[in-house]
Amino acid sequence: MKSLALILSAMLLNVSVASADAISDLAESKCTKCHAADSGFPNLGAQTSEYIFQSLKDYQSAARHSDNAVMMAKKAKGFDDATLKGLADYFSKQPAAAPADGDAAVIAQGKDIYENGIQAKGVLACNNCHGRDGEGNKMSPRLASQLQTFLASQFVAYKDGSIDNQAEMKDIASKLSDDEVTAVTTYLQSK
Ligand code: HEC
Ligand code: HEC
Repeated sequence: MKSLALILSAMLLNVSVASADAISDLAESKCTKCHAADSGFPNLGAQTSEYIFQSLKDYQSAARHSDNAVMMAKKAKGFDDATLKGLADYFSKQPAAAPADGDAAVIAQGKDIYENGIQAKGVLACNNCHGRDGEGNKMSPRLASQLQTFLASQFVAYKDGSIDNQAEMKDIASKLSDDEVTAVTTYLQSK
């Protein structure tokens, strides 16, 4: 019995080591050509595992269906949940992207929106959900050091309904002016 247990645990160990290797090979061959740091595509490093997994499910189901999302859906196609979860864990443990500079006055306006919301329009402060410094919290994505252009493009997608699984962000996106979106996203990219 003892030897059987040893053999079984050795087999289990092999399986998990092999699959962790397989996941990092998969990530490096199929994902990092776009998602490497400074590639101009959204940064995945240090993103919450929960949000990466949900995003991949949303691409598969076309809950996210902007033009860029349709392209990304082709990359997410065909993987089962265990593989998506493996990819999500892998990217969540990669380092965050480096922050980028921006105009100081724009950043100050964005920081004010992030920390206080816009009371006159009924916009909640972003730090209620996305963390004190934009580090994210489970289903609320990390926003810190994310590309400004990508963050701004997501506001467009929430507003025009090409992300249709999320009432709170749709409401917020519909209340922010273009200048306010630029300010808060420039602030986040600088974090
Ligand atoms: C050809 C380039 C390309 C490849 C290859 C690619 N992606 Fe993407 N990915 C994108 C683009 C562009 C977006 C933005 C889509 C959008 O606007 O929703 C994106 C978005 C994402 C997002 C959502 C990020 C966020 O913060 O909302 C995740 C998660 C993701 N990709 C994971 C992956 C994984 C995992 C792989 C490999 C299986 C992969 N991508 C392969 C281009 C790519
Ligand atoms: C009530 C909680 C809540 C508040 C307040 C909130 N968010 Fe979000 N936000 C979320 C959730 C949850 C998601 C993920 C939605 C999804 O799955 O598409 C999200 C997604 C996003 C995204 C997409 C990021 C990505 O990587 O795809 C951006 C950008 C964003 N929020 C910016 C903001 C900003 C800026 C504010 C403040 C003006 C804000 N949010 C306030 C909960 C919130």
